[in-house]
Amino acid sequence: MIPAVKGTRDILPGEVTRWQHVEATARRLLERYGYAEIRTPIIEREELFAKGTGEATDIVQKEMYSFTDKGGDRVTLRPEATPSMVRAFVEHGLEQALPTPKLYTFGPMFRYERPQKGRYRQFHQLDVEVFGVTDPAIDAEILEMSWSLVSELEIARAELVLNSVGCSTCRPAFNAALLEALGDDLPRLCSDCQRRARMNPLRIFDCKVPADQPIIDALPHSVDFLCPECRQHFDSVTDQIRAYGIPHRLSHRLVRGLDYYTRTTFEVLVEDLGAQNAILGGGRYDGLMKHLGGPDRAGIGFAAGLERLVSALPEGAAVPRPPEVFLVAVGEDARVAMLGIVRELRQAGIATLMDYGTRSLKAQMKRADRSGAPRVLILGSDELEKGEITLRDMRTSEQRAISRDALGEHLARG
Ligand code: HAM
Repeated sequence: MIPAVKGTRDILPGEVTRWQHVEATARRLLERYGYAEIRTPIIEREELFAKGTGEATDIVQKEMYSFTDKGGDRVTLRPEATPSMVRAFVEHGLEQALPTPKLYTFGPMFRYERPQKGRYRQFHQLDVEVFGVTDPAIDAEILEMSWSLVSELEIARAELVLNSVGCSTCRPAFNAALLEALGDDLPRLCSDCQRRARMNPLRIFDCKVPADQPIIDALPHSVDFLCPECRQHFDSVTDQIRAYGIPHRLSHRLVRGLDYYTRTTFEVLVEDLGAQNAILGGGRYDGLMKHLGGPDRAGIGFAAGLERLVSALPEGAAVPRPPEVFLVAVGEDARVAMLGIVRELRQAGIATLMDYGTRSLKAQMKRADRSGAPRVLILGSDELEKGEITLRDMRTSEQRAISRDALGEHLARG
């Protein structure tokens, strides 16, 4: 058999209920905060990400699934949703069309990374964005909503980590301070850091190479270089999340792996997930829409990795539900009579299974047992004659004949 592509995975039926649980919980939550769902294409022009995600990022440098299509256009399988969300917002004039500028989407993303537990080449995100709001109240609301998502999914040992990376006013002074502090140490950093130093020095904090860490630990912190407006904004965000009662930790290392962030950046980390422990991450990106050729509007959002959310769920969450009833018919007449009952039960909203083919009572009972259905209905020639059906409780192995007419009533009683 031809195997699946490396770094992709099938989400199997036993696991899918956990995904549905995450998606349904998130949808209910997002609706309470006024978000509207949008679905954008998986394929976009390469330049959208080169410009949006940023030339200095690992994503654009090394990880994009880009190709030339048959018409000669350069296209990319989206590595993230934020640039697509910005594009769609501008392209469709959603600022005017929507009651609130709050959007979310679910879907697959593609990054050519080294696959490992929690890191895939095709993975899935819930992506959430708000456009045109600079008020720190939206930063705090998004943080509170992220935390509510984690709580409602009953994800244990999670931690909200927060930072401010400043804006185009204060960033140049901070970048200069970083380069100055690095001084002669710069050539000793890894090749990625050399590139970051040239293109976006702030992102040196993203480095995971162990040998670089002592040098990086000694660097200045962005929060100490914020301009008065960014300082005030960040203080207001932290005041408000305290008022919401959300536990959090400030970390000057949290600069995030994408170029567009300004001011607030954040992640939620989960202790038990191993090396890939960020279940969601995001922040503010006030210059992105203008940079992509749209109006000058602020933006803020986050994306949660669905694979990681699903694996952080508690053990027994959202187990697949067995059918409620399994129908067993013995003999051709009974089989025909059973069809009416199957239809009746399914129309009454009862999950009902039956066996196919003409197999013995024993073989059908075995299948019924394997299905996990708590009740089995047995119809044979005897029952047929008397207008009855045998109801077997699989937990107690109790069996009794009931009248066909009273079947609905019996099943409703449970
Ligand atoms: P990101 O940090 O690149 O941000 O990804 C967000 C989340 O997606 C991560 O925290 C992680 O849970 C999941 N994720 C990322 N890469 C992988 C992978 N290879 N395998 C499995 N899961 C992965 C963004 O994508 C930004 N667009 C978030 C954002 C929205 N910022 C503002 N708005």
